[in-house]
Amino acid sequence: MEIKTVGVIGCGLMGGGIAQVAAQAGFKTVVREVNDDVLQKGLARIDKFLSRSVEKGKMTAEQKDAVMANLHGTTELAALKECDIIIEAVVENIDLKKEIFSELDKTCPAHTIFASNTSSLTVTEMAAATNRPDRFVGLHFFNPVPVMKLVEVVRTIATSQETFDKAFAFGTSLGKEPIACKDNSGFVVNLLLVPYLLDAIRAVENGVASVEDIDKGMQLGCGYPMGPLTLLDFVGLDTTYYIANIMFDEYRESKYAPPPLLRKMVMAGYYGRKSGKGFYDYSGDKPVVSDLGL
Ligand code: CAA
Ligand code: NAD
Repeated sequence: MEIKTVGVIGCGLMGGGIAQVAAQAGFKTVVREVNDDVLQKGLARIDKFLSRSVEKGKMTAEQKDAVMANLHGTTELAALKECDIIIEAVVENIDLKKEIFSELDKTCPAHTIFASNTSSLTVTEMAAATNRPDRFVGLHFFNPVPVMKLVEVVRTIATSQETFDKAFAFGTSLGKEPIACKDNSGFVVNLLLVPYLLDAIRAVENGVASVEDIDKGMQLGCGYPMGPLTLLDFVGLDTTYYIANIMFDEYRESKYAPPPLLRKMVMAGYYGRKSGKGFYDYSGDKPVVSDLGL
């Protein structure tokens, strides 16, 4: 069965981006959020991004309208039952993800492919909560989704060849470059990226250099587009904390252990850009380094 209709669960940082690229690629896209307030905020972020693209001359107002017409917001999980593929992008919590997929499994037709955008959880565990583990993959996109070219297509031991091929082709149809990954926690990119980001926090804790100089070091010394602490604020410190805990539980290696400073920042509500404060404070015109009392 050809993929025509895409479901996305969660319209946060990642779900909003995934819904946007799916609608831009011409798919009828249904995105589900927990309540109307969060949903409208998520849809407004997409609208704003597309309006900027119109202002920059990258798309016409008519093209923007066509993208928005492809996009339908809902708070009802049942509204996704006609979708040919459903991509889940809710918070990094295995119990929540299993509950959502188990519920969807009851209402979706047999041909619907289930995909998770998880950063660090085992896809097999989510697939096992359904009666369609052969039609279950990981589709791991990168932030910001409309800009980053990569999607990791994750095959579990139970994923059928047909499902994997369809998911891979679907990634290409979104304008992404897919790579094939096994279902190990962190897949390819986070297996390598997460220890680096956590080491940058440890460097702050140890007073190796200032937040700005650590960022400047990696930007100018390695040509990275963002320093690690700016990137952590961008990804979300809450999400990074969940990911570190999950990867540490999985591998029991100290390189994945969440540093105490990360834990304290999350407990204090310093989630990064999304909450207005992380390693940097975003309340003014330009980000300034936060006072972390170090
Ligand atoms: N959402 C959508 N588009 C965005 C954006 C956002 N948050 N931020 C920037 N952009 C777009 C801009 O509109 C601009 O588009 P055009 O070229 O069409 O005008 C383009 O990106 C470049 O933006 P800027 O010129 O403003 O800024 P920049 O050159 O510094 O690029 C960036 C911004 C693309 C975010 C770049 O800094 C970058 O690549 N940073 C690293 C991002 C990264 O490493 N992502 C992976 C995170 S890890 C992950 O996702 C996995 C996980 O599981 C945690
Ligand atoms: P986020 O906090 O920005 O968004 C999560 C959204 O899920 C929230 O808007 C929340 O209201 C919504 N949600 C919670 N329960 C829901 C439910 N039952 N139904 C519908 N929506 C629900 O988080 P995010 O950064 O978008 O991360 C989402 C997923 O993507 C996580 O699994 C994360 O690990 C993964 N991921 C994150 C990044 C990143 O850079 N932040 C990159 C790749 C993958």
